[in-house]
Amino acid sequence: MKELRHLINITDLSVDEIYDLVKVAEDIIDNPEKYQDKCARKKLATLFFEPSTRTRLSFTAAMMELGGNVLGFDQAASSSTAKGESVSDTIVMASCYADIIAMRHPKEGAPFVAASHAGVPIINAGDGGHFHPTQTLTDLLTIHKKFGRFDNLTIGLCGDLKFGRTVHSLIEAMLRYKDIKFVMISPEELDLPDYMKEQLDDAGVEWKEMRSLDEAIPELDVLYMTRVQKERFFNEEDYIRLKDSFILQKKMLTPAKKEMIVMHPLPRVNEISVDVDDDPRAAYFFQALMGKYIRMALILFMLGVK
Ligand code: NCD
Repeated sequence: MKELRHLINITDLSVDEIYDLVKVAEDIIDNPEKYQDKCARKKLATLFFEPSTRTRLSFTAAMMELGGNVLGFDQAASSSTAKGESVSDTIVMASCYADIIAMRHPKEGAPFVAASHAGVPIINAGDGGHFHPTQTLTDLLTIHKKFGRFDNLTIGLCGDLKFGRTVHSLIEAMLRYKDIKFVMISPEELDLPDYMKEQLDDAGVEWKEMRSLDEAIPELDVLYMTRVQKERFFNEEDYIRLKDSFILQKKMLTPAKKEMIVMHPLPRVNEISVDVDDDPRAAYFFQALMGKYIRMALILFMLGVK
């Protein structure tokens, strides 16, 4: 029997596979009608043990646009988790009812455990403060649409680099391309975890830390803003003290490159002022749209649909 493919970390996909996914997503954007029945009679289960708007809805929309069906739950409280069922039992059950599973869980490593029990492909839709590979695919499609390349980019990552799983997966993806530089902009308490810093050093990638967003902006091609991850804090005081550490305002974009793009996985809280939204460099709503197309390409790939 063919071994099941899962997507737990972004590095489960090779650089070539990512490129192919981006190309398929771009073809879907140009020729949606070619794809509308590709997943007829297939079912995607979305098992979300943590809140989500974009990820769950874009997975749902993606499967619908492929002609497939979707089942699942959007909070642990409405599943048998509330009765004490283990993740592995829930996954065994869902494998009986669906052809592919996208799951989000507050515990780091839960999708990895799930994959070892699953009878169908598992897609990690975010595990705690760890990883979020499908957001990264979304980010890569956005970058490719805007720049037409993945190499030779200076990427500023701003906000909660400690708990921000989208940042961790994006770093893992980008450090495989040529001439990438990272600028980490965060309060000291929300610095990138050591295991991520080690990965950067091992890969020999150029990176630095800055404490001022204003000083970082002029050299960036991509400014990736993130929300301070309230739900991962141990006490509210720390969150309140740190939540508004960086707020991007329109006037701060004056010294930025004309072709720079501002990205954000969303939801935003306060970290991008609404006056940035109509700046041509604001790419975050476009990015959310890209999430649907890349997930369509991913579902096709993981189900082995040609
Ligand atoms: C992100 C997440 O869930 O990690 N959201 C998303 O999937 N687009 C970012 C966040 O919640 O801050």
